[in-house]
Amino acid sequence: MHTSDSIRALFLQRFKETPRLFFAPGRINLIGEHTDYNQGWVLPAAIDLGLWFAIAPNETAGCQIHAADINQDAVFSLPAPPASNRMWVNYLAGITHTTGLKANQGFNCVFGGNLPPGSGLSSSAAMECGLAFALNTLFHLGFERMDLARLAQRSSNEFVGVPCGIMDQFASLMGRPETALLLDCRDLSYEPVAANFGAYTLLLVNSGVHHELAASAYGERVRECAAGVALLAPHYPGISSLRDVTWRMLEAHQADFDDITYKRCRYVVLENERVAKACAVLKAGDIAGLGVLLRATHQGLQEDYAVSCPELDFLAAFANDFPGVAGARMMGGGFGGCTLNLLKKSVAGVFKPAIQRAYLEAFGVEATVLEVNISGGVAEAK
Ligand code: GLA
Repeated sequence: MHTSDSIRALFLQRFKETPRLFFAPGRINLIGEHTDYNQGWVLPAAIDLGLWFAIAPNETAGCQIHAADINQDAVFSLPAPPASNRMWVNYLAGITHTTGLKANQGFNCVFGGNLPPGSGLSSSAAMECGLAFALNTLFHLGFERMDLARLAQRSSNEFVGVPCGIMDQFASLMGRPETALLLDCRDLSYEPVAANFGAYTLLLVNSGVHHELAASAYGERVRECAAGVALLAPHYPGISSLRDVTWRMLEAHQADFDDITYKRCRYVVLENERVAKACAVLKAGDIAGLGVLLRATHQGLQEDYAVSCPELDFLAAFANDFPGVAGARMMGGGFGGCTLNLLKKSVAGVFKPAIQRAYLEAFGVEATVLEVNISGGVAEAK
């Protein structure tokens, strides 16, 4: 756990000069899970947990980076740093590569913060976007925020080898206080939606687990969705992703599908519909209605998309049975991380110890409850 002060102090101690300081937030996602790489819609927001970067150019080809939260170091040379066997190094080296840093644009950097890694709050996107934004500022690279989001996603896909969509990088860079962003992942147009929950609040419950399955299953889902599109394309020549598919189209050709591919596609098609409904109920102040949609998303992720796990199912079911909870669901890629809980402010005090006690009894693991505020995107900190 680090603060802006401790990151700055560590940098001073190591490099004996005053750095520039940047903050890159993690994200939550209200709804629209696994829709981004299907060119559909998502409704994420940046949060007030994230990573601070203390950074200064060193006018050499060398990049010296200290990851304060895990007390590890990396050193590599520009341009074109080689791939590492450590994921965090690849996320950062990938950014120097995709931003096109030249041989004299090396830098010294210390980063760390309060974003629990592996909790599904996109610490990797915060790493990428924080460094990308900092380098863009230090070296006057001239990228817009949306360019940086695209570039960071490309770096994940091509340099790190993670076939993710653009939601996390978009949220970390484009986030606004008290606002969720409805993003169309096809053309990257977006609309701010006031995240006004009235008498309700959001709480995250971190399962503390991160199953190995996460990475391989993610790629498998990407391929299963593409297989569904390939089955439908002969009937509907205009389609290029599940975003173009309606429930009626899918149902009409169910006979062409195997059971698994059908379920994966059904989830995505219905989730896209839920994102539109969620925006409508949120704008109308119908928070109970939003909760109903969150519950349906969890059920879809659990049964049709099969990216949940017993721990997340337990947390979601416990919350969804708890008086005063509008709705709860697993959040993010799946197989661990946090659940998102939308509940009455008046019950938050009893909900927290109750869910922690129940989880400890069921799994022997502590669940941490995180209160998050919806905040702005990556920025230079004073
Ligand atoms: C991860 C990916 C995102 C998105 C979510 C699921 O966070 O990085 O692109 O696909 O999973 O919604």
